[in-house]
Amino acid sequence: MNKYHGRSTTVLRPRNTKEVSEIVKHCNERRIGIVPQGGNTGLVGGSVPIKDELVISLGNMTNIRSFDDASGILVADAGCILQSLSDYLAPHDHIVPLDLGAKGSCQIGGNVSTNAGGLRLLRYGSLHGSVLGLEVVLPDGTILDQLTTLRKDNTGYDLKQLFIGAEGTLGIVTGVSILAASAPQASNNVMLALPTFDNVLPLYREVKRQLSEILSAFEFIDRRAYDLAVKHGQGRALNESDVEGAECFVLVETSGSKREHDEEKLNTLLENLMEAEPSLINTGVLASSPAQFASLWAIREGLTESMSKEGKAYKYDISVPLHKFKEVIDTTRDHLQSKGLMRDDAVKHVVGYGHVGDGNLHLNVVADAYTPEIESALEPFVYELVAKYKGSISAEHGIGVMKTHALPYSKNAVSIEVMKRIKHLFDPNGIMNPGKVLEL
Ligand code: MLT
Ligand code: ZN
Repeated sequence: MNKYHGRSTTVLRPRNTKEVSEIVKHCNERRIGIVPQGGNTGLVGGSVPIKDELVISLGNMTNIRSFDDASGILVADAGCILQSLSDYLAPHDHIVPLDLGAKGSCQIGGNVSTNAGGLRLLRYGSLHGSVLGLEVVLPDGTILDQLTTLRKDNTGYDLKQLFIGAEGTLGIVTGVSILAASAPQASNNVMLALPTFDNVLPLYREVKRQLSEILSAFEFIDRRAYDLAVKHGQGRALNESDVEGAECFVLVETSGSKREHDEEKLNTLLENLMEAEPSLINTGVLASSPAQFASLWAIREGLTESMSKEGKAYKYDISVPLHKFKEVIDTTRDHLQSKGLMRDDAVKHVVGYGHVGDGNLHLNVVADAYTPEIESALEPFVYELVAKYKGSISAEHGIGVMKTHALPYSKNAVSIEVMKRIKHLFDPNGIMNPGKVLEL
């Protein structure tokens, strides 16, 4: 994003857990701050130093430690790239229960540390459920081995949960045990063009009802976001006639075990939607080949990149009630307009996309440059809006450095106090990813 910059001079790239442990022990004794770094694809500055911390990159730790194709349990080093884990599992008829646009660079340790949500959480649930165990190097160098491969283990505090989403502030995740899912035997997708946002929720209800167990994604893209993806060459644009009059789009994916059965369900859904009076959709573009399937996903997965290509993106990753998605986008745009900031040399676009099934909206404000004027117009405005709807200021991207000051909008004082105590318990010298999640 080119938004956060540190002044570090040193990156260490350990090859195994023991090396991580020795480095961390050394740093703790000398009070040297550490920033653990995975694929560096985070969006809140969590893996970027704020001063001159030592960067520990996990990129050299890429061993797959074990895989059991009966239980589906995979144990891997933290530095394994998400896509390479998927490639490894494919011949074993399994998939990683997590998928996101950054899969080609993000690492499983980073995914776990940020509790990444992604495109199929609707189907496979959160990492708090699918991660079975972790190996973590604690801030004093101790190796906490919780790398269990048990599905059930009800023996006291579930310590691993503390490190899922801790963004490297409590220790460095070096190994992950995760429950892989059976690979779907048939997948399909369809891009639905909607005349109005008001149809998104009725559509979601209908799609869930008709597709039921084969529904694996339901992604919302507003018209402006779609136009930017097309402008920046993400996926193949739909035909003019398919997009005409569309206020927004929904990408629906099915994953099941029998192609004919799934196709029949999807076709029936489309027919029903088109025939309904009034229809919830203008059109639906059904993937007719693996290339088209990939291209429809490329539009959705390429949104982040297209925002960055268009300008400097202020990204708000929020949970709000589904029926408020459009209101949040429109209210933010109106607010910027009233401040005189909706101009080509200030804010160019206010767009929304996100994971409807998870109640997670990505509000993106694309500007010509990052400026204090725009930032003070957006914050705390957006956070107050979220708090008004009792939402979360970070649905899946984490707090990083971007939102430490905004934590009280989503967490009460008692919760923050407990978080501080936990941080102090694990990291009394404050060396582990300082200034992230909790303010310095
Ligand atoms: C996504 O859903 O595309 C990611 O969370 C990244 C983003 O918000 O741009
Ligand atoms: Zn997302």
